[in-house]
Amino acid sequence: MIMLKSRDEIAILRIGNRIAAEILNVLSKEVKVGVTTLELEKIAECEIKKRGAISAFKGYNGYPASICTSVNEVVVHGIPSYRKLEEGDIISLDIGVNYKGYCGDVSETFAVGKINEKKRKLMDVTKKALYLGINEAKDGNRVGDISNAVQTFVESNGFSVVRDFVGHGIGKSVHEEPQVPNFGKKEQGPRLKPGMVLAIEPMVNLGCLDVEILKDGWTAVTKDKLPSAHFEHTVVILEDKTEILTQI
Ligand code: MF3
Ligand code: CO
Repeated sequence: MIMLKSRDEIAILRIGNRIAAEILNVLSKEVKVGVTTLELEKIAECEIKKRGAISAFKGYNGYPASICTSVNEVVVHGIPSYRKLEEGDIISLDIGVNYKGYCGDVSETFAVGKINEKKRKLMDVTKKALYLGINEAKDGNRVGDISNAVQTFVESNGFSVVRDFVGHGIGKSVHEEPQVPNFGKKEQGPRLKPGMVLAIEPMVNLGCLDVEILKDGWTAVTKDKLPSAHFEHTVVILEDKTEILTQI
């Protein structure tokens, strides 16, 4: 069942999602050569707490950390570790917070120092795909309109869309219905209505779309070990507009 949120719930979601965006902004300034992903985790923990929220990821299905730090070939769910960021890496930071019982979810991929042209294009295309998807996320459209906009743009740029993970509804739980795939057909899937809150999150691979999970049970990497990018916003569909909640 797709849970439509009331005005009061949306007011809380606005605050929590803004907090998630603030944490992402703080962390973005810490992404540099030599920093470990565990250092980013520690900063995130402190910043989340400071704002009266908790991580929505820690403990979720047993996930062991507060944020996801996915470097290069890691698609999503990279667990913070002693891995040091190196010049030329790209890192997706995925932040999920729970504020007063409601979740916020945001992600962005950042460059570490100077990156090559291919990685730059991968990041640019993934970010643009997210915004094209958000553009279709409006009252009266269907989930497939979002999916198709993302897929068409990504594939026309020669990259591939990950199938194994999808965007999602969000609210009291970080993952709610509906699923929001980054591939699909126009005018298919659930109809979008005011009060729906969606996390839209294209994951785009430079090479093949295949993904595998490492032995830790979480880290999702590309099979061909080529880089992957990930951008995510949480949005609320209103009668007259769609609002991006994960903005500062
Ligand atoms: N933003 C990701 C998602 O929406 C992160 C989930 S990590 C988990 O699926 F630990 F919570 F699973
Ligand atoms: Co998400």
